[in-house]
Amino acid sequence: MREILVTSALPYANGYIHLGHLVEYIQTDIWVRAMKAQGHQVTYVCADDAHGTAIMLKAQDNGITPEEQIATVKASHESDFGKFLIDFDNYHSTHSEENKHFSELIYRRLDSAGHISTKDVEQLFDPEKQLFLADRFVKGTCPECGSADQYGDNCEVCGTTYNATELKDPQSTLSGATPVLKTSKHYFFNLPEFEQFLKDWTRSDNRLQTSVANKLQEWFEAGLATWDISRDAPYFGFQIPDTPSDEPDKYFYVWLDAPVGYMASFKNLCDKRAGTDQALDFDRYWMQENEHKTEVYHFIGKDIVYFHALFWPAMLAGSELRTPTGVFAHGFLMVNGEKMSKSRGTFIKAETYAEHLHPEYLRYYFASKLSDKVEDINLDLEDFMQKVNSDLVGKVVNIASRSAGFLVKKYDGMLSEVCVESELLEDITKTGDEIAAAYENREFSRAMRLIMQCADKANEYIDDKKPWSLAKVEGKEQEVQDVCSVAINIFRQLMVYLAPVLPELTANAKEFLNIDSLDFASRNQWLLGHKINKFKPLMQRIEEKDVAAMVEDSKASLAQADAPAATESSKPAAKDKTPATDADAEQTDYIGIDDFSKVEMKVAHVVACNHVEGADKLLQFTLDVGEAQTRNVFSGIRKFYEPEQLVNKKVICVTNLAPRKMKFGVSEGMVLSTGDPKTGLTVVTLPDACIVGDVLA
Ligand code: MSP
Ligand code: ZN
Repeated sequence: MREILVTSALPYANGYIHLGHLVEYIQTDIWVRAMKAQGHQVTYVCADDAHGTAIMLKAQDNGITPEEQIATVKASHESDFGKFLIDFDNYHSTHSEENKHFSELIYRRLDSAGHISTKDVEQLFDPEKQLFLADRFVKGTCPECGSADQYGDNCEVCGTTYNATELKDPQSTLSGATPVLKTSKHYFFNLPEFEQFLKDWTRSDNRLQTSVANKLQEWFEAGLATWDISRDAPYFGFQIPDTPSDEPDKYFYVWLDAPVGYMASFKNLCDKRAGTDQALDFDRYWMQENEHKTEVYHFIGKDIVYFHALFWPAMLAGSELRTPTGVFAHGFLMVNGEKMSKSRGTFIKAETYAEHLHPEYLRYYFASKLSDKVEDINLDLEDFMQKVNSDLVGKVVNIASRSAGFLVKKYDGMLSEVCVESELLEDITKTGDEIAAAYENREFSRAMRLIMQCADKANEYIDDKKPWSLAKVEGKEQEVQDVCSVAINIFRQLMVYLAPVLPELTANAKEFLNIDSLDFASRNQWLLGHKINKFKPLMQRIEEKDVAAMVEDSKASLAQADAPAATESSKPAAKDKTPATDADAEQTDYIGIDDFSKVEMKVAHVVACNHVEGADKLLQFTLDVGEAQTRNVFSGIRKFYEPEQLVNKKVICVTNLAPRKMKFGVSEGMVLSTGDPKTGLTVVTLPDACIVGDVLA
């Protein structure tokens, strides 16, 4: 029996759970249930991620203490997870005694091993609010293109990244005050000291998906930087122990103690279960010397790979604790092929969904879409409805509803003593091994496909035998019972296979089938001479009106609600200079071919190229991309080119980029170039033989 500890990322305690989050919790929950059903000892823990400036400010806005704030949110998260049948063994909070203990322990061990250093950091400070401003709490004018109202880390108009200190006319978004520069001492974790360890760790034992390992390789090549792990008071978090008293109080940056929360939640569970027959030994899971006795897996979204595949293993190794056996990243949720959108009503809260639709519909749909890849998954609402109705209601439940009636009415619920189609049943029992493997490898879409193939076989069999006709023929009584018994046996196998995805439906089916287990091995014992109970409908069809009502409700409920997305804590300050930790930027890190093919690039002829009055970074292009009209495109390459060098050249233009309004006019595309906007850019030019308007693919 394998001993496995599984975690999902800890949701922030300043927002509600939405369908995007649920991709992760449903994925993990299905995996945990499948592994439990295969007889392993699996423990699934999670917690709220309760610290950080964003949560502190939210509490201030609401006129309550941070502790009250996080308690309310935790209750709402737990209620949402419950509705979606996410079966945590423990749900804790990072604002807990256990977490304080382990965060301090890890920090002290890192410090005494020489992995912590200090450095003075100059940062913008809000003199009214009396706090240092993370990048998203500063707005100002872009130092590159002069666009107003840009955040402290990058410009949404020209895409340049910069330090908040470089913004012109900066303003605190919290008070409107003009921030001042202020220096204070920060604590750093010396990540570069772990470079060799991390390189080995990344490539060993299949810990990471290939695309994630490749991403890490890029980060190694770009060079690892030290990580700023402290924040000055006021901050909601844990104070860093043993800091000098002449400095403002120092707190652990939220991302330092967040992953420690996995350990803390597990410890909390160990304490709760001590002395029971479900007791768990903390040391067996976390001490370095036990690394090979137990397994630890983290399920995460692709935006937080940096924290889980670099910082976290390095922190653990540096403090002589065991590192995770595997880190599994998933992609982001799209709805109807696009990023979730509040105005379209596709930014859907877990709670709003559950008011209108059964959570198991979504569990099945996500399962049918999820793979072991880091690809985004698309919830197409039309497809969702059709797939659930046709697979679950039309195929699976139908098998039972068309055979149970005869058995209960005419045979007192008794199944035949022998199986008349043992080959068919053996085939389906055997497919179970493939299904189990697919679950274990997180190829849920493959598992669902295999299950539906089994359901198809059962329906073909019933269609072929037509028990409803046989029932009318005298002397065919035994055959009717035999045929229906085969169908019920297949149905029970399907319930075993679907149990990790549909825990409620299959639990009801278990009552109906009068069996006591849905474990994987139980399917090897066929139901012969067995009595079943009266059949009750197990699932209703999804109605179009319910989906529409959910979308309408989402528009309404989010009109007043604030964005749960970016928080100070999800976006480490730009000065950390850790590549690609920005959640939004991360969204483009791993894409499927479908995403790639959304970008339309065409061969463009540069008809004219000019300087732009008042913009010392921009060149203005007039491009022929083979359409009736030329396009106007701005590009931030003035420092590197004289306009005449580019006239008459063939370049690559991204033609389906949404037009962007800039200070100097509307940019209707993008000219591709290589290099670094700070040090030098080279426009990609194409051979003359390329035909204007041709699509690049
Ligand atoms: N608090 C951090 C995680 C700390 S783990 C030690 C955090 N919280 S979060 O609430 O923003 O996200 C929780 C999980 O949900 C993350 O793994 C994140 O990737 C995932 N998702 C959040 N929005 C998502 C989508 N729209 N789609 C898919 N997963 C998404 O990050
Ligand atoms: Zn700009």
